[in-house]
This record gives sequence, structure tokens and C-alpha cells, in this order.
Amino acid sequence: MTRSATKSSPVELETKSRVDDLISRMTLREKIGQMTQFAGQGGIPNNLRESIKKGLVGSILNQVGVDTLNEIQRIAVDESRLGIPIIIGRDVIHGFQTMMPIPLGQAASWNPKVVEKGAEVAAAEAARYGVHWTFAPMVDITRDPRWGRIAESLGEDPFLASRVGEAMVKGFQGKDLSQPDRIAACAKHFAGYGYSEAGRDYAYVNISENELRNIVFPPFKACLDAGAATFMTAFSDLNGVPATGNEFLTKRVLRDEWKFDGFVVSDWDSVIQLITHGFSENEKEAAREAVQAWVDMEMASRTYLQNIESLVKEERIPMENIDRAVRAILSVKEKLGLFERPYTNPELFPVNGNEKYMDVAKEAAIQSCVLLKNDYQTLPLNRDKIKSLAVIGPLADDGFEQMGTWTFDGVEEWCQTPLQAIREKAGDEFEIHVAKGVDTTRSKDKHGFAEAIDAARKADTVVMFMGEEAILSGEAHCRADIDLPGVQNELLREISKLGKSTILVVMAGRPLTLDQTRHYVNSMMYAWHPGTMGGPAIADLLFGDATPSGKLPVSFPKMVGQIPIYYNQRNSGKPASHDSFTHIDHIPSRATQTSVGNTAFHMDAGFEPLYPFGFGLSYAHFEYYNLRQSKDSFTKKETIEIQVDVHNPSRYQGAEVVQLYVRDVAGNITRPVKELKGFKRVNLDPGETKNVSFKIKPRDLSFYDRNNKLIIEPGLFYFWVGGNSNAELGGKFHLIENLDQNQNNA
Ligand code: NOJ
Repeated sequence: MTRSATKSSPVELETKSRVDDLISRMTLREKIGQMTQFAGQGGIPNNLRESIKKGLVGSILNQVGVDTLNEIQRIAVDESRLGIPIIIGRDVIHGFQTMMPIPLGQAASWNPKVVEKGAEVAAAEAARYGVHWTFAPMVDITRDPRWGRIAESLGEDPFLASRVGEAMVKGFQGKDLSQPDRIAACAKHFAGYGYSEAGRDYAYVNISENELRNIVFPPFKACLDAGAATFMTAFSDLNGVPATGNEFLTKRVLRDEWKFDGFVVSDWDSVIQLITHGFSENEKEAAREAVQAWVDMEMASRTYLQNIESLVKEERIPMENIDRAVRAILSVKEKLGLFERPYTNPELFPVNGNEKYMDVAKEAAIQSCVLLKNDYQTLPLNRDKIKSLAVIGPLADDGFEQMGTWTFDGVEEWCQTPLQAIREKAGDEFEIHVAKGVDTTRSKDKHGFAEAIDAARKADTVVMFMGEEAILSGEAHCRADIDLPGVQNELLREISKLGKSTILVVMAGRPLTLDQTRHYVNSMMYAWHPGTMGGPAIADLLFGDATPSGKLPVSFPKMVGQIPIYYNQRNSGKPASHDSFTHIDHIPSRATQTSVGNTAFHMDAGFEPLYPFGFGLSYAHFEYYNLRQSKDSFTKKETIEIQVDVHNPSRYQGAEVVQLYVRDVAGNITRPVKELKGFKRVNLDPGETKNVSFKIKPRDLSFYDRNNKLIIEPGLFYFWVGGNSNAELGGKFHLIENLDQNQNNA
């Protein structure tokens, strides 16, 4: 397979590298052209053709159609003065035509290998259509499920998001970016976007440098270390300096400290939005600010094309900065092999949506589902016992909605829905009664209730498919009320009155508040938006042909007022506990005001989420014992090993994600009450026991101190090992400066 076309290189290489040679021959205008990304215009209108010929288009995004893209390349290669190919970008976020679960769902698999495979499939499918560059992964840490883009995120934890983010980068890019079936990744949005105030997209973010370094930056750094070719800035205003004009972010941290040598693209119009933010007075100043912050390519708006030339002539932007930006852009094009193979020949790729790709999508969907509740072991369903099943809800049979957000190229017809898959499982063995109940998840019309109740009445077991349509999450789709939308809770309540064994499968782009909902059902499985193969994956899980193994990548609040609620919080001076909590209903009327004995809780919601980070049930059951550690204390040159035995006493085969949490008891700055430091997924047969081991190196315990310096600080640490962030089995160790200190500690 090749990226096709055997056009000889447009540039004769002698002693200089191709990139240096080009830079030495480019006019300033052509350089600015490389720094400009045009939005696709649905074809090749004359203005685009002319701009390409003049060398003014470095990149195009969201232009589809392989023939059009090849023609665009032909114009660039054959008709522009220097023949520099164009890099084609597209939002390939969780699949191209074969959709994987939404990124938040993929994070719930806690399985970097599965995530990497999904990105590999996405890359191959997209490359077949002439795409060279995806705007993924989005590794913005977020603690706010109101924010629509939580769907595209990898959750609340820097460690998990780092492992999943780097897996995506590896999957998209492979080991060699010039392989025709690989595409360049883009770690976005640098940085802080996920902290949008009140979960309102594009809103202001206020994050201390220390928080940036300890929580927000690590997944970006992990993507960089995994080789991410590009970064994208954020729309947001970070502490008064919008990310697209923020020298601290894109120059000081990304380039000076981290030595990133790929290129940075702005977000859509985010350069021109510097004016709207109230940061730049006009387009020229906006362009200057962005270039000065080392934002190399401008997406969509054209302030660079229109202003950089005069800014350079006026010596307000140094020429070296332009050359640096162009060098970074051309180098990525070179790494992609675009100079050798600018054209795409789809026939040289496997067809999209092939069986292998579908298997990857199915496995990803299976591993992303999180079992939240399973009273009386309602699940798995027993095919031999069921006589009739009711399948109810607006999301039982809707391929489009199950794909989720960011699915421009996803093929609805390829989607296999839960209803189709359940019918297949049923064959002639049991009856299925189907009703939608409500037309859409948002609908307030209750006309369908009667039919749904009737279907449920006829069945011995009821499976409800509810949640959120795809459009209720994603960019610019934030919600203030994150209960099941519409009248879905009411329908559930009516069905629950029948006293049937009821299972709820939730498909949604965010954690919903399920405190009320969960009481209406025996079992609840969270399937996120599971993608093309969501149906067969869910059906396998429901009928026990697969066992749920997903774990929450984000805490689920009981109610909106608890947000932000996340596991790795700081302790405060008055941490809440079950002993210190007083419920609002238990406070006597006319009670005298006192704060003594009170702690950090909400009187009406307590202090815990509904479901904690890392939580997820299985049909199997896991016991942890025999915890041991290689040392009680270790020096900065040593490693400590923690081991535990995990046993599956159940009759089901299952996979457990064993998690390691650490607490730095006292620090130069206060430290989180718990931090995820490792996880391992282990498969256990019935009756099987496996030894799971974690190694902790001193640098795993490092953090940025009050001067924002990375330190490894000796001291006492607690640790816990278990199946979620509330794990109780644990111990402690000391990190010591040297062995003498060991004696002092003894
Ligand atoms: C805006 C989004 O914020 C960004 O993530 C995306 O990649 C671009 N638009 C391009 O579509």
C-alpha cells in the first residue's frame, strides 16, 4: 500500500535539507501561505484555486471527497511556484466512517491497547479519503459534566487521560508517520479549555500555574512524548490571556521547556477572536499576538495572510519567527511523506467498514460500557429462561444517535443497533415487544407511554434504552440540567410500577445525574455513545456473552450543585466524613448557628459523588488480598514494588481494572487526597487468582511545588489498591533522602 502517486519530488535535493532549501527560496508571502489554513468550501471555487496557485494555502480543513482533494494537491504541486503539497485536516475524533465509542467512553475502557487500535482504524479509514491530519486527541482535563465537550474528553484524571491520549497518538501516527495509512495527531486544546466556567463552552477559565502544571498539562506532555506532530490552541481565555495569544503556553512551556518541534494550529477563528475577547484591538494586532505566542498556523480566519507581511516589514514580528513556524509546518509535511506522495489512491487501502474494523469497534464498545448497578444479579439475562423481552426507549434502534458527537463521516447505515442485535440473539427463542415510549430523548410528549407500558406488561423482562441524543453533547452543546432529558424519568417511573425486572442502558455523551433514575431499575449499564457496533456490544453484555469491565473515567455527581466533584480533590482543613455529615432533614428548626464540628459537605447532597471515579461492576466478583510491598522506605534512587492478589470467586470470567492510588501526606503545597498512579487490566477465569504488581519510582511521586518547580519530596505516602477510587486496602511507605534517614524514621 502506498500513499500513491509516484510524482517525483518537486524539489531537487542537493546538500541542504528539503525544508531548508524551500525556506531559502520562499517569498515572505509564500511563507505566510504555509501558515494559513483554509476552511473547505465544498469544492474548488476560483478564489481557492487561485490562492493555491499563488502558494497561499498551507492547509485545508473539512474538505472531503478524494477526487477533489487529489485535484487540490495537483494544483498545489503542479501549478504553484514551489509545488509544496497541502496538508488536509479533518476532525477524526473517534473513528472516521466506522465509529468507535466517544472518547470519554474509550477512556472508560481503561485499556490503552483497545484505544490505540481504534485510532489506528480511524487513521486508515481517513487516510483512504485523503486526510493527513486529525484534530485529536482532545486531552483537556474536565471536572464538569455540564460541559458538552466532556464527551470528547478523556475524563477528570491526568494519569488516565495521559495513558489514553498517548495511545490515541500512537494509533493515529504509528511508528512511522510516512506510512500511508497513518495520519498526524493534534493534542488539543492547549490549554485549560476543560475548565470552562460553569461548564459553558468557550467561557473564561481561571487556573493557577500550579494547577496547570500538576493537573492540566500532564496529558499534553504525554501526547508530546508519544510523538504528537501538532498541537491546537484553545478558544478559552486563560487567566486573562486567551490561549491563542498566550506566550506562556505555546512558547515558554511548549517550546522552551518541552522542546516541542511540531507545529501549533489555532482553533477555528480563534486568532480573530482575540479581538472579541478584548485582548487585541484589531486584526493586525490579533495576528501579531498569535504569531508572537508561536501559534504557527491560523485556522479559518485570515489575519495572518492579511497582516503578517506588514508586521514583518515594520519589524514588529521577527523574520526568524516566521521561518521557525514555516520550518515546523514543512517538517510535518515531510514526515508525512507528502512531498513524495501527495495523492491518495483509495484502491490501495482495505475498504472502510471491513469486518476487521468492525471487530475493533465492537471490542472498544464492549470494554467502554460501565455496569453501575446490578441488583439481584438481574444481568446477565438468561436466554433459556426469558420468554418475552420488552425493548423500550428512543435509543433502542437509532444508529445515528448511537454514534454520538463528531461523526461527520460516520456511516449511519453501518450502525448496528441494540434492537437489531437483540433480535438476532433472540432468534425464535423468545418474543420481543418493542416501543419507543418517547419520540426523542428530549420529547415531552407522553403519547407513547401507553404503548410502552403495554409492551412492558407483556414481557417478563424490560430493557430500556434511554439517555441523550448525540446533539445534546459536543462542542457548544452544554446543559445546566443533566438529568435524563424530557420525560424519560417519568416513563421509567411508570414502567417501574409494573414490578418487572427492568434494566436501563444509558447512552449519553456525559455523566448524567442518575440519583432518581437508578431507583426505577434493577440494573443500569452506561454505554456512552458506543459507536457503529454499539448494538452487538451491548447485546453481548446483556446476555452474558461478554462481561462488563469498563470503569468510570469521571465521577458521577448526584446532582448538579455538587459540580465540580472529583476524586483527586484537596483535603481542606475540615474534610467531610460520614460521622461529620448532617443531612438537611436532620437539622432541627430554629437550630442555633454553629460551625463547630461541621465539615466540607452540602447539607442536601453530602460530600460523595453518586458513583466514584474508577467505579464499575462486573458479573464476576473480585477479591483483593495479600497486599505486600517490597520496602517500607526507599530512596530517590530506588523503586518500590507493591503487589496484591486478585481472586475471582464467581462463576463468570471477567476482567478487572486494578487501580493504584497514592497520597502524599504533607507537601510543599497541599496534595490531592488521592492520585491515580497506575492501573492494570487483568482477565480472570472463574476461581482464578492473579498476582498484580505495581512499581513506583520516585519520579512518579514528583509534583510542581509552590514555586512551580518540579520536585521529588521525601516524606510519608499512603497508598491503596482496588477496583475504584474508594479502594480501602492499602498501606504506607516513606520516600527518604538517604539511608541514614531510614534509621531516623525507624
Ligand atoms: C473547533 C473545535 O474547537 C476544534 O476542536 C476542532 O478541531 C475545530 N473546530 C475544527 O473543526
